[in-house]
Amino acid sequence: MDFGRFFCSSVIVLVSGFLFPALVASVGINYGQIANNLPSPENVLPLLGSIGVNKVKLYDADPRVLRAFANSGVEFVVGLGNEYLAKMRDPEKAEAWVKTNVQPFLPATKITCITVGNEVLTFNDTSLTEYLLPAMQSVHTALVNLGLDKNVSVTTAHSLAVLETSYPPSAGAFRRDLTEFITPILSFHAKTGSSFLINAYPYFAYKANPKQVPLDFVLFQPNQGVSDPISNLHYDNMLFAQIDAVYSALTSVGYKKLPVQISETGWPSKGDEDEAGATPENARKYNGNLMKLISQKKGTPLRPNCDLNIYVFALFNENMKPGPTSERNYGLFKPDGTPAYQLGISKTNNSTGTRSGTGDGDDSGSPSQPISSSTGYLSISSASPVTDKLRLAGAVFCGFLSSFWLFF
Ligand SMILES: *[C@@H]1O[C@H](CO)[C@@H](O)[C@H](O)[C@H]1NC(C)=O
Ligand SMILES: *[C@@H]1O[C@H](CO)[C@@H](O)[C@H](O)[C@H]1NC(C)=O
Ligand SMILES: *[C@@H]1O[C@H](CO)[C@@H](O)[C@H](O)[C@H]1NC(C)=O
Ligand SMILES: *[C@@H]1O[C@H](CO)[C@@H](O)[C@H](O)[C@H]1NC(C)=O
Repeated sequence: MDFGRFFCSSVIVLVSGFLFPALVASVGINYGQIANNLPSPENVLPLLGSIGVNKVKLYDADPRVLRAFANSGVEFVVGLGNEYLAKMRDPEKAEAWVKTNVQPFLPATKITCITVGNEVLTFNDTSLTEYLLPAMQSVHTALVNLGLDKNVSVTTAHSLAVLETSYPPSAGAFRRDLTEFITPILSFHAKTGSSFLINAYPYFAYKANPKQVPLDFVLFQPNQGVSDPISNLHYDNMLFAQIDAVYSALTSVGYKKLPVQISETGWPSKGDEDEAGATPENARKYNGNLMKLISQKKGTPLRPNCDLNIYVFALFNENMKPGPTSERNYGLFKPDGTPAYQLGISKTNNSTGTRSGTGDGDDSGSPSQPISSSTGYLSISSASPVTDKLRLAGAVFCGFLSSFWLFF
């Protein structure tokens, strides 16, 4: 999933029963725009407010979005697609990109981070892999030259499939063949103060093996859970086990202290017949329970005092994404601005509420002006091997599953 998108806000709007706690300080969302029917960015801000989201991750640096969110207080992660990596190795081109796509929007739009490439290492494309760090370095250098490096950090987002071992979480380890590429990237993070980003989808594990993976365990529903036999830590949901596996992998290569963010996670509300679990009910449970955990400032068993820093995938259903039906149905919202399902994890609470929108979301987010997000759309062909991602995720979980029942 490599494309362009955005976020925002602090207004409490009630959108047709889409009820959320207002307190959420740290929920982020991926604003993808691989669609021709999304509302204009101006109409997106109230939607974000309605779900307590104040951080948005885009897959590009769509100027319409960045402009629309000026002075909104929403924090933005912007992205450089994989198709830019070769070019961005050139420091002059990187600086030109930052000057055009980032600098003009600061400080009114709070751009805090640039992701250079998405899931690059798991494409197994040798040249792309080799371009990654040099591109990240050039972009960072450009920020330094422009005096923006204290405001904007540089990172890249990885698939969970960079892990060779993800279970038990304490045994988490990077793929051996990737270590030579990952270690210098971790060193870059440590030097420049940026976070390690990982995309993690318990849904893929369930879909690959619905008979064996307990649904409640992946949906954050009450369940018996599983204990890590080495650490003795108890896990009652798969995402936390995945995150702790990442912490373990980082620790094992000497980067225990790097901050970790989950740059994508989510659950589709609809899928093809062979896509088990893709229902509105399951999506509601996954995303609703997850957002509740985030708002409660829960940490994982290994890092109970570290806030979860998570970007839900995604804001909208995106009708032009390739791949199985599920790929077009990860959205919390339909393109008309109405909820894809009733998330309803909580009554809207008062804490920061300032205004009540109404009912069907008309006034808050729906006008459907056709948009063809140029950049987002263009990146489909070059960098969205959705099926690869599914396959990879399946592979990672073979390891998980084989040990799962031993300890469940
Ligand atoms: C950088 O961050 C500082 C401190 O938060 C802020 O005052 C300043 O306006 C920011 N500069 C830009 C260009 O965003
Ligand atoms: C990439 O390489 C790994 C390790 O060799 C392999 O498991 C994986 O299937 C490959 N992925 C793709 C997309 O070819
Ligand atoms: C609303 O907030 C109060 C105080 O923060 C809390 O005790 C209460 O449980 C919340 N209500 C709901 C429905 O979340
Ligand atoms: C919301 O806030 C108002 C005024 O602060 C208070 O009277 C009311 O009880 C609150 N409602 C809820 C549901 O917390």
